This record gives sequence, C-alpha cells and structure tokens, in this order.
Amino acid sequence: MTLSTFSFPTVTVFGAGAITELPQRLKNLGLSRPLVVTDPGLLHTDAFRLLELALGKEGRDTNWKIFSQVHPNPIEQDVVNGAAAYRAGGCDSVIAFGGGSALDAGKAIRLLIKRPDCDLSKFDWRDDWYGLAPCICVPTTAGTGSEVGRSSVIILEKTKKKSVLFHPGLLATLVLLDPELTRGLPAKLTAATGADALTHCIESFTSPVFHPLCDGIALEGVHIIIQALPLAYRDGNDLDARGKMLVAAAMGAIAFQKDLGATHSLAHPLSTICGMHHGLANALCLPFVMKFNAARKPGLYRRIGIACELDIMGVSKEEADERTIEFINDFLYQLGLRPGLRNYDVTEAHIEMMVPQAYADGCHQTNPIPVTESDLRDLYFQAL
Ligand SMILES: [Fe+2]
Repeated sequence: MTLSTFSFPTVTVFGAGAITELPQRLKNLGLSRPLVVTDPGLLHTDAFRLLELALGKEGRDTNWKIFSQVHPNPIEQDVVNGAAAYRAGGCDSVIAFGGGSALDAGKAIRLLIKRPDCDLSKFDWRDDWYGLAPCICVPTTAGTGSEVGRSSVIILEKTKKKSVLFHPGLLATLVLLDPELTRGLPAKLTAATGADALTHCIESFTSPVFHPLCDGIALEGVHIIIQALPLAYRDGNDLDARGKMLVAAAMGAIAFQKDLGATHSLAHPLSTICGMHHGLANALCLPFVMKFNAARKPGLYRRIGIACELDIMGVSKEEADERTIEFINDFLYQLGLRPGLRNYDVTEAHIEMMVPQAYADGCHQTNPIPVTESDLRDLYFQAL
C-alpha cells in the first residue's frame, strides 16, 4: 500500500459581509501593513469598493498598499513587480483579491519576498518554501478555487509557457468567501467560472488517486453546483446561490488535490493558443471526455449522476453514464455554454498546434483512462 497525505488546513470565513472581518482578522494575525494584489479591471468594481471600505479608503498608500498590475494570465514579471511593491511599501502581508489570476499572483509573489534572487524557472517544490509571508485570499469569482490551492500558475519568461509552481507553503493563511463580492459578475462569466468548478469536481472524483475524503467533497460540490449555478446565472443578486457557488468552487479545488483529467489537458492549450476562457474551454470539452471515459470504463459516472439527483440507481452502467452525460450536456447548454469549438473561432490548424501541448500537459496523467496523443486529437475534433 502506498502512503497518502490528507490535508485540509485553510481557515475559511464564509458569508455575506465576510469582507468586513478583514481589519479584525489582520489584527488577530498581528498584521498591520498588507499589500493588496489584484488586476486593473477590478479597481472599478463594487467588489473593490467593499474591500476599500473594509480596509479604510483613507489608509490607502499609507496603512495598506496596492499592486494592481496582474495580467489576466499572470506572467513572471507580475510576480517580480509585486514582490518589489511589497518591499518598497514595507508590507507585512498579502491580500490576494480577485479571480484566479490575482489569487495565483498574490500567492506567488511571496516566493520572491522570501528569496528575492530565486529563479522561478528553476523552482523546486522539494526546497523549503515554508514560512512565506501571510496571505489572505479573497476571491471575486466562483470557479478556480485558487484561494484554497497549494499552487500558482504563472507564465514564465524563459519558456513563455504556463508553469505550475506547487508547494504546500503557498497555501493561504486565511480565506474570506463573501458572496457580496461576486454579485457583480456578469452572467456569462458566472456560467464559465461555474463550469470550471463543476469540471474540477467531476474530474477529481473520477481521478484514480486514492482520496475518499476528496471524493466526498467532489460529489457534494457537484450537487451544490447543479442547484446553485442556474440560480446565480439567472439572478446575479441571489446571494444564497452566489454563496453556495463560492463554497462549491473551493470544494472543487480542495477535491483536485487528487488531480484532474483529460478535460483540463484539452482546455489549457485552448486558453494559451486560442485565448479562450478557461471555464468555457472546459465546458466545451467535458462531455466528450466523459463519453470517451465511459465507453472504456462503464459506470464511471453513476455517482456523479446521483449527485445530480438523477434516478439511475437501478439502471445498467451504460445507461447511468449516458443519462449523466446527457444531463451535464444539457446543463451546460442551459447556461449559455453552447458547444462547438468552431463557434469560438477554433480551427483545424489550431488543433494541430494544441495537440502536442495537451499531451505534454500533466492533468491527463490522472484521467481514469490513459490517453494517447491521438486520443486527444480525436477529442478536439469531436468537440470542434
Ligand atoms: Fe480548472
């Protein structure tokens, strides 16, 4: 038997108004001079106004500093500049505020705060990266769940490729999940980010890694998303649904300690080569990967279907999979995530460029069925 490590250590404060806890929580942690790390688009949102209100607008640039230059897909220079802003501001902590990009950048700049001369292209997770600057993660989208993750995805200067910097020391000190902050998220983004969370739950549940704790979290995550995402999509002000989606997104990311599957390997090049939103890319590939997997491992999706409240206990393995996949397909369609890569300007030429990258991507290593490069090409063409 191989050894497993189960770990769920992030303190999380959940609920509408959680952001107002920030000053007291900082005080409790002995912190007085945080650097807010975010992206420029967020500065004009209601979510940012709520953060300013919590931290005290008058204290901006004196009691708290801001670095708001994070790119939509964070690059190494964001990490370098963020760490420089931290040092110049004499900061003692990071508040990573925003979607996955801001959270990833905020978590990662602490690496260069600890070791300013570190070459991120040579980052080694076996090095001692514990004792990083305290970090409070505050998501403003419900999808990536980066706030509870132990890694940051950064495009490195040398390779120009997205690299996963993984170390348990990257975990946030504290997470605030406040649905008031996701209220303003447009329906389209609500759907796409929610589809990412759904994909995390489905792919982590079906990953063959032994982690029954994560399996339970993944199934409940699916159940919550199936209920809450359509409500949050239709009415952005439904705080109950918004809150449930924030929790489900965190659950998806906790569950994918088990790692993901082929959908994510197909989705990553769709973002880097075609510029597609990560959640949308997952939504367009997920049903095809599910069909591929189910054909080779019948019954794989029965418990996902049950989590979706389908009455499939007594049916054959094949029927359970078929009805679950049909349900997921329809669910995504109802959220405006219309299938067909072609509808989003993806071409056959793109696919040829994407296949090697998808195959080089590590996520499919934990797909329930091993995939070849040619399988990935077939899947792209099916999704086209
Ligand atoms: Fe994802």
